[in-house]
Amino acid sequence: MGKDHIRVRVPATSANLGAGFDVFGIALGSPADIIEVRKSEKIEIEVRGVGREHIPTDPRKNTAGIVASILKKPVKITIHRVIPLSSGMGSSAAPAAGVAVALNRMYDLGLSNEELVLLAAQGEKAASGVQHADNVAPAICGGFVITHKDRVISLMPENIGIVAVHPQIIVSTRTARALLPRKMWLGDVSFNTGSAASMVVGMMKSDIGMIGESMENRMIEQVRSRLIRGYSQVRKRALEAGAAGVTISGSGPTMIAVCRMDERERIAQAMTQAFQEKHVKSEAFITTIGKGAEII
Ligand code: HSE
Repeated sequence: MGKDHIRVRVPATSANLGAGFDVFGIALGSPADIIEVRKSEKIEIEVRGVGREHIPTDPRKNTAGIVASILKKPVKITIHRVIPLSSGMGSSAAPAAGVAVALNRMYDLGLSNEELVLLAAQGEKAASGVQHADNVAPAICGGFVITHKDRVISLMPENIGIVAVHPQIIVSTRTARALLPRKMWLGDVSFNTGSAASMVVGMMKSDIGMIGESMENRMIEQVRSRLIRGYSQVRKRALEAGAAGVTISGSGPTMIAVCRMDERERIAQAMTQAFQEKHVKSEAFITTIGKGAEII
């Protein structure tokens, strides 16, 4: 494939990890979208795969189209969707990240990962209404990522088991953000600061126990959990089955558990079963912390 046509595999991502609202994110080993970019006369978008009918193909409204527009590159973008829509697994971030990476290579732009993240975050804004880079950053850099100001810090923890269970419930990021309290109690802020700090150390040490404990947060979980039917039961059953920690993935409704690699199947079963008992169908992704966007 020459430079006129580039394909990029972009992973699903999970933002926040509890205490790191709009700051932390991880790349998942799977699922992933494939973003295809081909030189053309004008910016065009084609969407294939899961939930394609809900994705705008107007380049001014599509997260990937906005990235191409900012760079003023006339390309045809084909999005092969696998990441479930409105799931809290970075489905709107993946095309934006993929196009940023593809155009950087196609036109030899020489943009750094930090510049690519800032660019893709402008595309992602079209989906949530607010610019946040905690999905596009891990989608581009892989691993565990901290986004703060214009800085992107990434680490690659090893052998961290991840179970992401996506219930068939629709939660848009816009709605989930609109619910959030505008003022916080200082005690909760202090608790979350502790969780965020210990999360970073847990990731640096690839310490599953410490990562799991650090997922407990007191600022956004409670209010958002109301959008997820079965939340309390699913969380409880995941912990009983051996998960080190459980939280809402991004703005939900996916719930994500961190565990040892050999415990993933059991935890996935416990979580899907708990959703089923609440009459909610769900799909489990058994994975790990994975790499970022790759040209394939
Ligand atoms: N940090 C964002 C939020 C992630 O929680 O709204 C959205 O997936």
